Amino acid sequence: MRFHGTMRVNERGHLEIGGCDTVELAREFGTPLYVLDEELFRHNCREYYRHFVGRYGGKVLYAGKALLTLAVCRMVHEEGLGLDLVSGGEIYTAREAGFPMDRVYFHGNNKSPAEIDLALKVGVGRFVVDNLYELETLNAVALEYGRPVDVLLRVTPGIEAHTHDYVKTGQNDSKFGLAVDTGQALAGVRRCLRARALRFRGLHCHIGSQIFELEAFAHAAAVMMDFARVVYEETGTVIEELNLGGGLGIYYAEPDDPPEIGDLAEVLGPRVREEAARHGLPVPRLVVEPGRSIVGPAGTTLYTVGAVKDIPGVRRYVAVDGGMGDNPRPALYGARYEACLANRAGETPVETVTVAGKYCESGDVLIRDARLPRVESGDLLAVFCTGAYNYTMSMNYNRVPRPAMVLVRDGRAELIVRRETYADLLRCDLLPESLR
Ligand code: LLP
Repeated sequence: MRFHGTMRVNERGHLEIGGCDTVELAREFGTPLYVLDEELFRHNCREYYRHFVGRYGGKVLYAGKALLTLAVCRMVHEEGLGLDLVSGGEIYTAREAGFPMDRVYFHGNNKSPAEIDLALKVGVGRFVVDNLYELETLNAVALEYGRPVDVLLRVTPGIEAHTHDYVKTGQNDSKFGLAVDTGQALAGVRRCLRARALRFRGLHCHIGSQIFELEAFAHAAAVMMDFARVVYEETGTVIEELNLGGGLGIYYAEPDDPPEIGDLAEVLGPRVREEAARHGLPVPRLVVEPGRSIVGPAGTTLYTVGAVKDIPGVRRYVAVDGGMGDNPRPALYGARYEACLANRAGETPVETVTVAGKYCESGDVLIRDARLPRVESGDLLAVFCTGAYNYTMSMNYNRVPRPAMVLVRDGRAELIVRRETYADLLRCDLLPESLR
């Protein structure tokens, strides 16, 4: 089991994060509770900034799909990163946070006319255009606005990164982007260059998520630069930007062994330069869009243990007061997590238990085989590395309200997402006339 960021065991034997005793946090804010380690979040932003902006003159966009709240937008802004956003709701959130819209890249494979309109109205920095339908729609709307739009074209380089099937996006058979192999990517570039309201700035790809093989990223960079050469030869246009997406993996549990942020930069920065030189092209600006590797390890979820059930000779179930509603990743992807007993964090693990959630699904299991001290009802369980794709993918299944989130730093804890109430659950419910 590994601790992350500012985690430590304090004098009372409790898990501490950001100088806050997690037992106190649970008492004050209730459970389940998402705890975000501000120092680690900012540290990871700075690592990306230092390596990609500082050393290679690149750009770093934090991928909001991993975790986006008003407070997160503010921190991302303070750390000098841009944002990768994928929906009207994400744009609205960033805008309400006062985030500078020219530092936003707008993604998505099926942007609605209303979302395109909103993005143009608020003035996002770049559209990452996914397909020809979007290209035509965007061009038409932008013509009405009478102001040109900066565009990257999303292409599929045909690379399969070694990761879980459901989150693969780089292969040719993908709903995302225009394939290089089939000639559709080049056709897209040609159309973009002819579109009066669009300014073609470069290319984008994203080969997957939770990737450990740096070679996959390097390969993507090479394929993209090969394509940049084709674009130059066929159209005379030089790409200004090369956006290689996100995807760097993190440690969740043994035997995960992810590279460091700096390692990724050391592979991508030089590789893009070499490939540009090989093709006799100017070096494009390198853009990356990390989500998970910034916020994943900075999040921890605290749960209270309720029912503990022994099935002799089979297993011991430890049920917590959350589960797939606040973290659907184990049920969706078979994702693995590590945990500790936050109220007895110094004790040595002595048993293997199955941590189950409270939702009405057999598949609602957070950790299949968790090594823990002897667990009792009332214990506080801390599940690590839940910062990415937990809150953003949370749901109200079984009408369970979503947890609160606190930002912790230097012994201070502040709510950044309040806990949902039962009344919130009825926010959108209406009774038709006939039932009143
Ligand atoms: N850029 C694009 C275009 C993306 O599609 C994604 C993630 C990212 C950047 C950020 O990737 P990251 O650095 O976070 O790996 N829900 C899944 C992950 C889905 C990722 C979708 N795209 C999970 O929980 O594992």
